[in-house]
Amino acid sequence: MITLPDTPTREHCLALDRADPLASLRAEFVLPEDMIYLDGNSLGARPRAALARALDIVEREWGEDLITSWNRNGWFRKAYELGDLLAPMIGAGPGEVVVTDSTGIDLHKALQAAIGLAPAGRRRILMEGSNFPTNNYMTQGVAAQLPGCEVVFTEGEGIAQAIDERLSVLCLTHVHYKTGAIHDMAALTARAQAAGALVIWDLCHSAGVLPVDLNGCNADFAVGCTYKYLNGGPGSPAFIFAATRHHAEMRQPLTGWWGHAEPFAFERDFRPRAGIGRMLSGTQPILSLGVTECGLQLARRADMRDVRAKSMVLTGLFIQLVEARCAAHGFRLVSPRDPQRRGSQVSFDHEQGYAIVQALIAAGVVGDFRAPANMRFGFAPLYNRFVDVWDAVERLADIMDSGRWRDPAFATRSAVT
Ligand SMILES: Cc1ncc(COP(=O)(O)O)c(C=O)c1O
Repeated sequence: MITLPDTPTREHCLALDRADPLASLRAEFVLPEDMIYLDGNSLGARPRAALARALDIVEREWGEDLITSWNRNGWFRKAYELGDLLAPMIGAGPGEVVVTDSTGIDLHKALQAAIGLAPAGRRRILMEGSNFPTNNYMTQGVAAQLPGCEVVFTEGEGIAQAIDERLSVLCLTHVHYKTGAIHDMAALTARAQAAGALVIWDLCHSAGVLPVDLNGCNADFAVGCTYKYLNGGPGSPAFIFAATRHHAEMRQPLTGWWGHAEPFAFERDFRPRAGIGRMLSGTQPILSLGVTECGLQLARRADMRDVRAKSMVLTGLFIQLVEARCAAHGFRLVSPRDPQRRGSQVSFDHEQGYAIVQALIAAGVVGDFRAPANMRFGFAPLYNRFVDVWDAVERLADIMDSGRWRDPAFATRSAVT
């Protein structure tokens, strides 16, 4: 149990860091000396091991072993191996997860598989309209290919009420990308399944930072990325989970040779591979998978209960300090105040959020901005410290009190916010 007094000081934060069971993991990451990195919910920090791993793949595996690496260096099995490495962190079993493609593509495959397994005649997909847009776009793309398929958008409390016997698939993101609010996976899965529907969970903002129990919740499918809290690197491949009970019957439309029962038989016609392998489509990005493995190995070293306990205090402390130090500056908390309902991020809305985030970055505190007004701060318990929270809020208060954020240079929008 991590506790802080009602009015914490920087000294209290340092004491918590000294007692932190995860503290030693920070040294396994490369973090710039003068930067407080609060954007691990967008792109995780680089594991120190990633550079040597990338060099080894390029120099030895590719350079010396060339094509033999598919067997000799295990390239052909990487998507499965990484899936099994990730599985315990999301409550999946061996052989239920592969690491492949992007979240959007995996979602496309999961949606098609789920619709194929849903009761005949049903063609309704329910999701949150405020979800990360690619999920909406991918779902609309799937619906456009299926005559009579409709996508119904609803929000928060309305989700449970919108579940009825017309539903084929409930497709939700476990932790909301803007607010950080957590859905009750067990309750919503049970409710949708009681109505005969299947359920897909997007774990982009939960994998590696909250305990997730897909099988404990009887989830049907799940997808998620590895470049946030799993620290797999920019554009690292995503993952897809399918519950074992669906393996024999599930079908997905991107039927490439890697999903074939015998890829090296080079048969003319497609026959699906047994098990989760049928979710694969084509040749995997080996360099990226190799680096992703470094992030997954680090995450596996942490006890997810310690990660969650630290995450709740980091985010709670940030809220408490921002509200105390910046009360006059018009920040509106949009993340749940209850730590049990909050993922590992804190979001505040502010009309001038973009310029404030830019000024903060210039002051060495990296968060990000999501239009129209959302300032997001992600807390990665594997490498963020309690003292980082203290120092970040001090710098934010300084920018606000001095009005430095009003510098016109901070208002110029870049392509990526
Ligand atoms: C909830 C959610 N789903 C999907 C994605 C991105 O998907 P992709 O990796 O396909 O770009 C994100 C990206 O931040 C996300 O937050």
